[in-house]
Amino acid sequence: MRIVVAVTGSSGVELGERFIEYLPDGIEVHLITTPNASIVKRFEGRDIKEYKNSDIASKIASGSFRVDSYAVIPCSMNTLGKIANGIADNLVTRAISVAIKEHRKVLIAPREMPLSPIALENMLKLSRLNVVVSPPILGYYSDSKSLDDMERFIIGKWYDSLGIEHSLYRRWGE
Ligand SMILES: Cc1cc2nc3c(=O)[nH]c(=O)nc-3n(C[C@H](O)[C@H](O)[C@H](O)COP(=O)(O)O)c2cc1C
Repeated sequence: MRIVVAVTGSSGVELGERFIEYLPDGIEVHLITTPNASIVKRFEGRDIKEYKNSDIASKIASGSFRVDSYAVIPCSMNTLGKIANGIADNLVTRAISVAIKEHRKVLIAPREMPLSPIALENMLKLSRLNVVVSPPILGYYSDSKSLDDMERFIIGKWYDSLGIEHSLYRRWGE
């Protein structure tokens, strides 16, 4: 499986990092970070291909490069607005616009609070295009006792949406 992971400049960059950290072996990760997202953590032991957000000529900017799924975690309101309105002015927005035109699996995790009507409209627009709009929302039904547990729950829900096997949280009824 091949996945493009984009990390944009909003609170919760750590969630993007951990999303990659918990991925099972065998998934090929292509990582784009916007200049506003500072990825501090290195991904030891993982074979990750990293791209500059300005590298609009890279292979993931093309629909001919085969990718199984895309995740924007976290997704700033800026990037959300661009994606929802067809703007493709950097590698993150270009890669996602390609994914949408190719009808591929896309998940975005918008992070803002409260949400403006503009952001809500943008999310609705993308949801209607089959983009999975999945903000990091706390879950209280999975025995979460710490921030770490809560993050595992949220990331597990994202993996569920993308068809990635995991045991990050205990499912209801299990
Ligand atoms: C400390 C800090 C926290 C921020 N948190 C958020 C946030 O949670 N959500 C958001 O949409 N923007 C947030 N922003 C604003 C974005 O970084 C800003 O809109 C930026 O233009 C996003 O660019 P990008 O989409 O290219 O990453 C934050 C900015 C700073 C400096």
